[in-house]
Amino acid sequence: MNRKDVPSKTPETFHVKSFGCQMNVYDGERMAEMLAGQGMTASTDGAQADLVILNTCHIREKAVDKVYSDIGRMVRDDGTRPMIAVAGCVAQAEGEEISRRAKSVDIVVGPQAYHRLPALISKAVRGEEAVDTDMPAFSKFDALPGRTKQARPTAFLTIMEGCDKFCTYCVVPYTRGAEISRSWCAIIDEAKALVDGGVREITLLGQNVNAWTGEDDKGRLQGMEGLVRSLAAIPDLKRIRYTTSHPNDMSEGLIAAHGDVEKLMPFLHLPVQSGNDRILKAMNRSHDVDSYLRVIERVRAVRPDIAVSGDFIVGFPGETDAEFEDTLKIVAQVRYSQCYSFKYSPRPGTPAAGMDGQIDSAIMDERLARLQTLINAHQQEFNAATVGRQTDILLERKGRHAGQLIGKTPWLQSVHITAPELSIGDMVDVDIVSAGPNSLAGQPSRRKAA
Ligand code: SAH
Ligand code: SF4
Ligand code: F3S
Repeated sequence: MNRKDVPSKTPETFHVKSFGCQMNVYDGERMAEMLAGQGMTASTDGAQADLVILNTCHIREKAVDKVYSDIGRMVRDDGTRPMIAVAGCVAQAEGEEISRRAKSVDIVVGPQAYHRLPALISKAVRGEEAVDTDMPAFSKFDALPGRTKQARPTAFLTIMEGCDKFCTYCVVPYTRGAEISRSWCAIIDEAKALVDGGVREITLLGQNVNAWTGEDDKGRLQGMEGLVRSLAAIPDLKRIRYTTSHPNDMSEGLIAAHGDVEKLMPFLHLPVQSGNDRILKAMNRSHDVDSYLRVIERVRAVRPDIAVSGDFIVGFPGETDAEFEDTLKIVAQVRYSQCYSFKYSPRPGTPAAGMDGQIDSAIMDERLARLQTLINAHQQEFNAATVGRQTDILLERKGRHAGQLIGKTPWLQSVHITAPELSIGDMVDVDIVSAGPNSLAGQPSRRKAA
């Protein structure tokens, strides 16, 4: 099919806009690095770029709606528009349907095919249909250029991708495909390149990151704890984090690493989704409330100060008031340092979308508000408990005021300090002086760190 309404000039500038999870952010960075490597220039002004890449998320309906409204806004005052590429999970789920629904979309590229973006751009320039939602057996990572110098001291690094768990509400197994672990050497090499480029903290990413498995450089079978221990040996890497972990993949070895790998930060994002066993079963979560709580107990036994965060869905089909109350109960039991919580969103093609007992949106609103009130109270309490303590933070970015810098504690809380003599990338000891619901205020410590 030939398309005539396409901007036919080869784009010289581009802008990537990522929606969705950290992995989408990572993919967006890799696309940007690849296009820059081809001689294109990144534009901070999305409205003026020759090519706009919308790196999309399909997890909830709201996220998808946002993409289509964004596409609609791309036409400039003079009637021209950029070349538009839809990448990410909506691209994978909807494929060429997207260019039918939004005529101004020139390129559709799935999350496992974006290394072929340069060829797709050439096709689009020629006015040809440019859709690629293949899930090739070889890894896209082999075809991408190496990492370049990073603007920030923190970076994401995808170590595994995809999901074999098939929770009944979730699109990820369809949009990202089956679980695939990247090779040990590729991961270590990428980490070293990031650290050489100034990175001091790496967050390992995967939809079930702790399901990572592979052979090390000596041919021994390793799990994620081996990888963490090996990364911890990179001298200038100061901090390691990982997300998202699944309760069933929390191995003894990984739990032990939390007790003795100093660079592994005391923070665990471990979603449970619901506090009721019947709902967990209907969700096909393959763990129950008890086994989840036991995992947390074991981690806390080796690392008592670990901050635990979670994800929750309210209003899963058939969820009764009493079953929702169980979710409040587990929240009260675990006392999370922070959480993400969502109204259930029926997704096309998932088993739960066809289940009886879909819950009224107003009831979901009410449940979500109650859940979030409780979660926010715990988060506030968690933050307040750090006031008066001394801790190290890694300075990540500038704050709004002159001389203000923002860094994170080991427990992932943002801390604002005013210290014009310090720079982004510095690790500093600070005393926490006050706490709000979402961030802390600190000052450089005069005491020696404990
Ligand atoms: N792999 C991770 C999370 C992936 S998606 C895990 O298993 O925990 C991130 C979060 O989005 C999920 O934890 C879940 O809370 C939420 N989510 C996924 N599908 C959803 C849906 N259909 N409606 C509402 N929330 C959803
Ligand atoms: Fe989705 Fe479940 Fe897989 Fe997480 S484990 S990505 S919620 S299917
Ligand atoms: Fe969204 Fe895809 Fe991530 S659906 S949450 S961008 S894996």
